[in-house]
Amino acid sequence: MSEPILQLERVSRIYDTGKVLVPALQDVDLTVDRGEFLAIVGPSGSGKSTMMHILGCLDRPTSGRYVLDGTPVEELDDDALAAVRSRSIGFIFQSYNLLPRTSALENVATPLAYQGVPRRERLERARAALTLLGLGDRLDHEPTELSGGQQQRVGIARALVTEPAVLLADEPTGNLDSHAGAEVIELFRQLHATGRTIVLITHDLEVAEAADRQVHIRDGRIAPDGRIAA
Ligand SMILES: Nc1ncnc2c1ncn2[C@@H]1O[C@H](COP(=O)(O)OP(=O)(O)O)[C@@H](O)[C@H]1O
Ligand SMILES: [Mg+2]
Repeated sequence: MSEPILQLERVSRIYDTGKVLVPALQDVDLTVDRGEFLAIVGPSGSGKSTMMHILGCLDRPTSGRYVLDGTPVEELDDDALAAVRSRSIGFIFQSYNLLPRTSALENVATPLAYQGVPRRERLERARAALTLLGLGDRLDHEPTELSGGQQQRVGIARALVTEPAVLLADEPTGNLDSHAGAEVIELFRQLHATGRTIVLITHDLEVAEAADRQVHIRDGRIAPDGRIAA
């Protein structure tokens, strides 16, 4: 039986710049099941990051309904939303977003501090996540002492360490050369094979091919059959 973990129902997000209204997402319906590996593909400006912000509870829909792991987010106040975000979502960013002058181990342990996990356990779990990603010999390295591909693996370890329901990656290979990018995509395949739910956002059709399902977005809309609208 498939079990929905993310559900968008007629979700729109309209930015109000004060001068114009920008409809960045329009009437988007999307269901992601537990254990799925989904790619959201579209050109620059199509609404991918807006969608990631909503899926990741960093932003709220202007209208429509978003149910995350059984919880309708519109019913949550900002503190409750932040708690759901911390528990349910592991973010992976194009530019890694690691803390500078901070070791890989401390970078990965940090999200656990927000969950009140004791320091000793934080460090143990961070070490385990980094070892899983092949960085067991780089625990004490700071971001500038790591390659781009290694920094992104630290970013993935940080996303995994809280055991989130969903990994949400926005252009995770965008700053990497093709070899390092392919390694990161292979890691996603392995994580998916061990049961992780992954939503991969990309403009790159070839990267999107790594996922089991592709949803195409253009001008803030998803084509009804999942293909690019004409
Ligand atoms: N904070 C904002 N205020 C106004 N318009 C925005 C804002 N963020 C994004 N947009 C606009 O919304 C549309 C979708 O942007 P975005 O979600 O960043 O697309 P993508 O990630 O696919 O490049 C674009 O037209 C963009 O200019
Ligand atoms: Mg974007």
